[in-house]
Amino acid sequence: MSAQILDGKALADQRISALAGQVERRVAGGGRAPGLAVILVGDDPASAIYVRNKRRACERAGVYSVSHDLPAATPQGDLLELIARLNDDARVDGILVQAPLPAHIDQQTVVEAIRPDKDVDGFHPYNIGRLAVRKPALRPCTPYGVMLLLASIAAEFKGRHAVVVGASNHVGRPMGLELLLAGCTVTTCHRFTRDLASHVGQADILVAAAGKSGLVAGRWIKEGAVVIDVGINRLPDGKLCGDVEFDAARERAAWITPVPGGVGPMTVATLLENTWQAMLVHDAAAG
Ligand code: GUN
Repeated sequence: MSAQILDGKALADQRISALAGQVERRVAGGGRAPGLAVILVGDDPASAIYVRNKRRACERAGVYSVSHDLPAATPQGDLLELIARLNDDARVDGILVQAPLPAHIDQQTVVEAIRPDKDVDGFHPYNIGRLAVRKPALRPCTPYGVMLLLASIAAEFKGRHAVVVGASNHVGRPMGLELLLAGCTVTTCHRFTRDLASHVGQADILVAAAGKSGLVAGRWIKEGAVVIDVGINRLPDGKLCGDVEFDAARERAAWITPVPGGVGPMTVATLLENTWQAMLVHDAAAG
């Protein structure tokens, strides 16, 4: 078997174009465009690229974008003050603080400072909790993007065994909640998991989100599985790769996402869609 490629870039482009149409129609009818504030602290080169992609996507979709690039030495208090101002700014529907943050800033304090109705990353405990109780509000972008990718190939969810490799707050944990909500039997593997290969071998749907190149050997993959690779790792030669050995996995899987061009673009599309959803909630609250 040679897996079909699950093209996240194409699906993301389609969804961003559809959103751009919605925004255009709304603005033509006298409405305001949705607004997204993107905050970057420090000069991590990978973060700078991700933030640039998000800002460009805003431009494409007609989303009003507010940029704050802060030096690495920015005190945590200054960042919290900026977030408080954006929380009160009626032009801003969504606030995103790019991770990772410099070591002197506590990520969770920052996440919890963002008003849950503006938390378009879906990282706030309120939004994670809503997903956990099957009442999703703003959904974490990457896991939600993965669900849209799976839905695009009409993947069967109910009763399928989904295995998530990685248990981060941003991806692995909410990914498990999304798959559970969709009716999968979910296994989450993490750094203390014994015999990763045997768990991976049971997956009808495999989501690799550990951030370690080559962690998942292609020969472990169950024949006919759907393989979603969330990892974005830079090799010494500068090339990007995921967590799964792509060529070997492709021989066994039915579908597989490439890196780059798989999950990454979907994260950007769902971020913009969350910003639109947040705007609708703000409109309704404004009456
Ligand atoms: N760093 C890597 N991915 C993400 C993301 O989806 N959101 C934020 N805020 N930071 C990230």
